[in-house]
Amino acid sequence: MAFLRFFVVFSLLSLAFSYETHNSHLLPRPLILEYQENIENQFKEFDEELKLQCTSWRFAVEANNLSPWKIIPQECADYVKDYIRGRAYTIDIQRVSKEAGIYAKSVELSGDGKDVWVFDVDETLLSNLPYYAEHGYGLEVFDLVEFDKWVEKAMAPAIEPSLKLYEEVLGLGFKVFLLTGRSERQREITVGNLNNAGFQNWDKLILRAPEDHGKLATIFKSEKRNEMVKEGYRILGNSGDQWSDLLGSSTANRSFKLPNPMYYIP
Ligand SMILES: *[C@@H]1O[C@H](CO)[C@@H](O)[C@H](O)[C@H]1NC(C)=O
Repeated sequence: MAFLRFFVVFSLLSLAFSYETHNSHLLPRPLILEYQENIENQFKEFDEELKLQCTSWRFAVEANNLSPWKIIPQECADYVKDYIRGRAYTIDIQRVSKEAGIYAKSVELSGDGKDVWVFDVDETLLSNLPYYAEHGYGLEVFDLVEFDKWVEKAMAPAIEPSLKLYEEVLGLGFKVFLLTGRSERQREITVGNLNNAGFQNWDKLILRAPEDHGKLATIFKSEKRNEMVKEGYRILGNSGDQWSDLLGSSTANRSFKLPNPMYYIP
């Protein structure tokens, strides 16, 4: 970014220099005003280009086209912050919830209690934005120790459109299974947090047992879904903010990807 700014200024300087040599009789004051305006335009163009680049990056994140990544691009820090804090993130989440609801209503349930909707927890049902606001919205490398301290507070608010979908699918007669990468040690605190945020009446809350630690999320979650299928459940819907919530084996008939440009879990 610093380099690009330097480049813009440098090109303007050479432009001014060429004016001076070829049209020195037209100089100087009006040109200086124009020169200022030109800088503003160039910065506007630069900001516009940066916004496009960061939007493109976010699109690649959501489409799962990126290689595993650890932190958001430095130059997109403000972009991601604006996206999350502005209306865009909310509108995107509302869209996912709405479309999932339309699908849920369209499914004919068997009525044998084996129709399941799976929900991930973090950034799907519960929002950890208060934590990420303190950590650059993904600009800092994920710190599990620090994050666990936040989890222990059990203060994560509900993602409201997800709560709406959650209640909708329960009302329709789906079994609701919560499948999270959180540790079994965090069961009690997680139940407390979910209840405080308005989530009740789920059928299973599946967390990582000691033998699941160290497994990639895709593997851990696939194994757990395999078990559900083995027990005769039909996984009709799955909601998650990570592709590792949704891909692998025993995938749902329909998977709904919530936006999350702040972090990536393989
Ligand atoms: C879900 O997918 C399975 C396997 O593709 C299919 O047999 C079943 O009809 C689907 N269920 C619904 C309700 O769409």
